[in-house]
Amino acid sequence: SESRKRLVIGNWKMHGTLAGNASLLADLRSGAGEAGACELAVCAPFPYLAQVQSLLQGSAVSWGAQDLSVHEQGAYTGEVAGAMLNDFSCRWVLVGHSERRALHGETDQLVADKAAAALAAGLTPVVCVGETLAEQEAGRTAAVIARQLAPVLALGAQAVARMVLAYEPVWAIGTGRTATPEQAQQVHASIRAMLAALGTSQVRVLYGGSVKASNAASLFAMADIDGALVGGASLVAQEFLRIAAA
Ligand code: G3P
Repeated sequence: SESRKRLVIGNWKMHGTLAGNASLLADLRSGAGEAGACELAVCAPFPYLAQVQSLLQGSAVSWGAQDLSVHEQGAYTGEVAGAMLNDFSCRWVLVGHSERRALHGETDQLVADKAAAALAAGLTPVVCVGETLAEQEAGRTAAVIARQLAPVLALGAQAVARMVLAYEPVWAIGTGRTATPEQAQQVHASIRAMLAALGTSQVRVLYGGSVKASNAASLFAMADIDGALVGGASLVAQEFLRIAAA
């Protein structure tokens, strides 16, 4: 915490409809005032970014996408460039979510390249890291996080200072099984140490994995947890707003 402003980002993943989004966004817009000192954002599927922009602009809630291409433009069918996200006033873009790593083969280096592409486009990358259950059980959590972050940190202090990091243990995503605040804090502290070694103390490190209104406050009480990246609970306006208020 210290001077790092709290940040709560909703990751809608592949959920939403025009009609459903309209009511969710209206509720977020009107409820965001109660989020207090916390910054609030949503990361929506690409086709809805225009809708999100039109319904959130001028509100306390900012928005972003869930992925971007490493390329600026060209023959890359199905890909979306950072400059395109800028056309819809995106502020954030998730990079290296575990679902992208697992289902789309994104490597640590590609994730770092995407973070660099986001920065080059003027977006803030939210770089996600986290170990699987097997890795955790093998006592490899710290090593996995260090390996995932290595090419990101290699981009240098100036670049990393403009990022947000998110620790999402894969075994806690969508499972209802949250890391205990102490468990998460331990990993966040190790990430904080890597950031400190680089000379970047102001980078926010979010926790993600089954964050709900009922467990948010205890997670946010930890010294090195600066907010949350919320999946399922971000699809329900009141639940998401209660997390932000925690
Ligand atoms: O990016 C957020 C995420 O992976 C956590 O999902 O549904 O466990 O909050 P959920």
